[in-house]
Amino acid sequence: MSSDSPRRTLRVALGVCLVCSVLVSGAVVGLRNKQKSNQELDRLKYILIAADLYTTDAEVISTYRRAFQPVWVDLQQGRLLKPEEAARLGLKDFDPKNLARDANLSRALTTGEDLAKILRRPNYMFIYQVIENGQVSKIVLPVYGKGLWSTMYGLIALDRDLTTIKGFVFYEHGETPGLGGEVDNPRWRQSWVGKKAFDAEGNLRLSVIKGKVDPTAAEANYQIDGLSGATLTTRGVDQLVKFWLGRQGYGSLLDNLRGGMQSNG
Ligand SMILES: Cc1cc2nc3c(=O)[nH]c(=O)nc-3n(C[C@H](O)[C@H](O)[C@H](O)COP(=O)(O)O)c2cc1C
Repeated sequence: MSSDSPRRTLRVALGVCLVCSVLVSGAVVGLRNKQKSNQELDRLKYILIAADLYTTDAEVISTYRRAFQPVWVDLQQGRLLKPEEAARLGLKDFDPKNLARDANLSRALTTGEDLAKILRRPNYMFIYQVIENGQVSKIVLPVYGKGLWSTMYGLIALDRDLTTIKGFVFYEHGETPGLGGEVDNPRWRQSWVGKKAFDAEGNLRLSVIKGKVDPTAAEANYQIDGLSGATLTTRGVDQLVKFWLGRQGYGSLLDNLRGGMQSNG
């Protein structure tokens, strides 16, 4: 009998398939932890970038542990939660995507409220306090909302005056490279640094405008250049930042913190 009969060929092919599928599944399972830890490292890296404290990948974890303190926030009441309050509420998932999925921990927004086009807003968010020389030197606030093609997830860092922007970065979006994707352009990101989000009375004044900021304009300190050829992404960024720094977002918290309510126990 010939050694390459159809039945034998089939058996060999099936055997090869079986071995390959075991290898692939093994690799998927084996690499899952590695993948998770890389995602976590990436998340921490962007928090550091927003706060202008990123140096090298190797130092991400040590810098984060040394200088950052995540704190949960009750957005409705505009206050920081004590760790035991957050624990009682079962808050431990630091992924904005998951927070609004839980109907008990989020609420539907009306069209008028929903500037960021996110449909539901978590009742509780988390922020990162940056501790330098024993004091809160900056805070990093997660923000997100719709661009043209995608929900864009970012982080905005405010100085201890809770008004001056210290950094802004998107860590996830699906806008078109070269158009809306220019949100990743380091020069554009840098243009946010030093701008004021609020005036002296605490009114939200920040705007991402269409076109270039006129540096001689009275509003220049509150304005960010729009992205050319990407008016729709630009509008999305403008709206999501206004949402999160406004009444539906961290607005009440920032007012209260400015009024001196600093303690989270
Ligand atoms: C393939 C393709 C991808 C686009 N991607 C984006 C985008 O990511 N963000 C954006 O605002 N506009 C994008 N646009 C352009 C928008 O359709 C629209 O023309 C633009 O926002 C207008 O901006 P402008 O007024 O600055 O020209 C894209 C257009 C095409 C054809």
